[in-house]
Amino acid sequence: MENFKDTQDRYSKYVMPTYAPKMLFTRGQGSRLWDADGNEYLDFATGIAVCNLGHCHPGVTRAVQEQAEKLVHVSNLYMNEVMPKLAEKLVTNCFDGVVFFCNSGAEANECLTKLARKYGNATGRNEIISMNDSFHGRTLATLAETGRAKYRKGFEPDTPGFSQVPFNDFEALKNAVTDKTCAVLLEPVQGEGGIIPADVEYLKKVRALCDEKDILLLFDEVQCGCGRIGTRFAWQSFGVEPDAFGMAKALANGLPMGAVIAKRKFANVLTVGMHASTFGGTALVSAAALAVQEAFDKENVLENCREMGAYLREKLTEISKPYSFVKGVRGMGLMIGVVLDREAATLSGLCLKQNLVTLTAGECVLRLLPPLNITRAEADEAVEKIAKAMAELNKTL
Ligand SMILES: Cc1ncc(COP(=O)(O)O)c(C=O)c1O
Repeated sequence: MENFKDTQDRYSKYVMPTYAPKMLFTRGQGSRLWDADGNEYLDFATGIAVCNLGHCHPGVTRAVQEQAEKLVHVSNLYMNEVMPKLAEKLVTNCFDGVVFFCNSGAEANECLTKLARKYGNATGRNEIISMNDSFHGRTLATLAETGRAKYRKGFEPDTPGFSQVPFNDFEALKNAVTDKTCAVLLEPVQGEGGIIPADVEYLKKVRALCDEKDILLLFDEVQCGCGRIGTRFAWQSFGVEPDAFGMAKALANGLPMGAVIAKRKFANVLTVGMHASTFGGTALVSAAALAVQEAFDKENVLENCREMGAYLREKLTEISKPYSFVKGVRGMGLMIGVVLDREAATLSGLCLKQNLVTLTAGECVLRLLPPLNITRAEADEAVEKIAKAMAELNKTL
């Protein structure tokens, strides 16, 4: 308790209050977290889709330890041995293309934005259309791309050159395209907006429209990528290739890394001096990300994600039946939303009382993002805890 109080006092005095955390975790292993008093929790949040292989995955930990003793950082003015190996590994499992490394999701989307503008400006086009309810980051350009006005409030004037249309509505998008449009940006599965997958047919039509008009199709896979929906890259679950896409969050299982992969056709749009990132692809973080890719190769992670995702969605639908406040269960792989008819924060709080860490999305969705390697026993344990939390919520109605 002392530890919690000391930390809370320091936090509230010295940390800018952009977050309001109520918990202190001091240790993690696999799907488990422990607080300062030694209480154990099952983690179905994974640091917001970051620790996809669970906490302190042995392969990642070993790679970080070994690299930390050898070389941490030299900047991108020089090569390190690890980053090109990681780029090769990513591209080998993707379409033919090239990678830019950065540190975060917003930075990956900034790179996509600059790539699209640089390409489009050659023919007088520089406007980007994104989707209502999307989330793309907190920098000024990615805020302008984000389809929820509340995130922009207070930071006016809005950065020009961006507009939004309803998600999964092809006609709306088609009507919004002008001779100034250089790119369409979307999340294949909207995360913060409420765990909303794109329709495959919609994506195919968007792809055809972009091909017809020479518009870049950009995917933000920051949350739904890196194996989260059961394929190494999210676009592979839909069979629709973007021209370029961004990832971050789980790329290095907890170390900060973002990346953009662009098709080879666009490999020379951004050239020497046009874009940069001091820490991007640094040796230490690249070693962690390479270990993540190796785990995907050897540890059956993606298959487990698909299996456990289907299993959890089925079980969650079953336990929700008695409760009219549950409107449905949706998602792909282990990106799961339990849709409520009210704010989800209360149910998430009741889950925490059962020592299950969850998240919310939109206002009314309980968001579950467990490690991709959870066992069936862990899935059952979580379902039991959520069932208890739902019963508790029902008592208060
Ligand atoms: C889809 C999506 N894009 C971008 C971001 C921003 O990522 P970061 O916080 O790493 O900048 C997020 C973060 O939640 C996200 O979910």
